[in-house]
Order: sequence, then structure tokens, then C-alpha cells
Amino acid sequence: MDAAIGIIDSGVGGLTVVKEMLKVLPNESIIYIGDRKRCPYGPRSVEEVKTFTIEMATALSQMGIKMLVVACNTATAVALDDIRALFSFPIIGVINPGARAAVNATKTGKIAVLGTIGTIKSGSYDAAIKNLIPEATVYPLACPEFVLIVESGQYKSENADEVVKKSLAPITKLDFDAAILGCTHYPLLEDKIEKYLSKSVKIISSAIETVRDVEETLLVTGVRNLAEDTTEPIFYTTGSIDGFQNIVMDWLDIKEPDVRYIELEL
Ligand code: SIN
Repeated sequence: MDAAIGIIDSGVGGLTVVKEMLKVLPNESIIYIGDRKRCPYGPRSVEEVKTFTIEMATALSQMGIKMLVVACNTATAVALDDIRALFSFPIIGVINPGARAAVNATKTGKIAVLGTIGTIKSGSYDAAIKNLIPEATVYPLACPEFVLIVESGQYKSENADEVVKKSLAPITKLDFDAAILGCTHYPLLEDKIEKYLSKSVKIISSAIETVRDVEETLLVTGVRNLAEDTTEPIFYTTGSIDGFQNIVMDWLDIKEPDVRYIELEL
């Protein structure tokens, strides 16, 4: 029960899920891996993303986690079934929770999906949404530059504002009332994304709904940590510790985060 929940992402995007976990499940231990050295996953081949995802899951499995959250949409889209077949602990992805939240939010059934090239190409959101509302209209949009802006720590810059404006231009005139941030990096740009979409559009981040799934799975499998005390998350990165640490301090408001280096290539 006191084993950690593992969270994996291509970089810092999964911190949006960690933020929600710290709010809702503060007494659960978290071990996070952000594969910044090989980020972004979005433009990579399906085989590469599968391999990297398996490597991260294997590393966490060796650390003895009780559950895994794939907090990367690209990895969820292409590798979730493969890793579920390899490990015995429960594994939760971010696409079904995001689709469910959008379906709950939309009144018109018209939903935009912003994601990486890999996620959009996979059609996973389209399928997940249409599984819930078969007559839904989905407007997919790949925004490959968003991850680069976030990973470089420039998500508060004027350049970020310009990139968001330019990237969203193809959909701003379309009629939809919900927009899924179909990449866990995108909530760090949410204020800018909101600025360039119509006021009536509800912006959906999958983090809240994903953590709901985590909580439910902990209860169903009987491994919810009942201890009252809280522990600080441990963060591993395959890239530079400093850059990662700065984003953790800013986004999660943790003063001295425990950030460690990890080598992953097998
Ligand atoms: C990426 O590495 O390209 C973004 C990760 C994601 O899809 O959430």
C-alpha cells in the first residue's frame, strides 16, 4: 500500500498530472520519470515511442511501484496496450479520461483536440470521443511547437504567445464548444490557448479526470495508502537536472525538489 505510484512522460508535461495528484492524493508517494533527453515523442515513430515507454515502465517496475500513470498522450496513444501486456500492476493512460471530460463538458458535441503529431495521427481521441458520442464532430489539430516551448522553459514568454496564436489559427473560426489539451505539456500554455479561443470554449486538461481514475483504481484494487503522512515526490530525468528542477519549482511550487538523473537506454 505504501509503494509509490509511477508517473512517466517524455519530459515535464506529466507534472500537470503530478500537480493534481498532490492535491487529491497527497499521502501517495510518487516516482516520476521525464525522458527529456529524447523529448519530444510527438514526431517519433511508433516503434521508438513504444521502446522508450517500455524502458521507463521497466525502470519504475524495478523500483517496486504499485501502479503506473502514462502521463504522456503520445505514449498512451501508441504504447498503452503493449505495456499493459508486460506488467502486472494497473496502468492508466490519459486519453480516455480526457475524452470523457470533454464529452461531459460539451453541449454541441463539437470538440477540438490539440495534440502532438503522433497523438493526432493515431486518431485515439477521435475514437475515444466517438465511443462515447458516436455523432460527435472532432476537429484535430497538431501543435508540435508547444512541447518545445514548454520544455525550454519559455512557456511564459512573448514568443510562446506568438507560437500559440499562429498554431491555433486553423481552428479559431470553427464552431466547437470544448477543446482538449491532448498533450500533458499544454496546460502550461493554458492561459495563452484560452486567449485565442472563443470565450464559450471549455478547455479540458485530462489531469483531473486521470487522477480520478487513479483514485478509483487504488480503491478497487485495495492499495490506497491509508497513512496520514505525506512524502515529497522523487523526480528522475534523462536530461539536465537544472532545467527540470526549475520547471518543477515553478509549476509545482516545491522549493527544493528531489531531482535525480537516470540512464534509460537498454
Ligand atoms: C511529446 O513528447 O511530444 C509530448 C508528449 C505528449 O504527447 O503528452
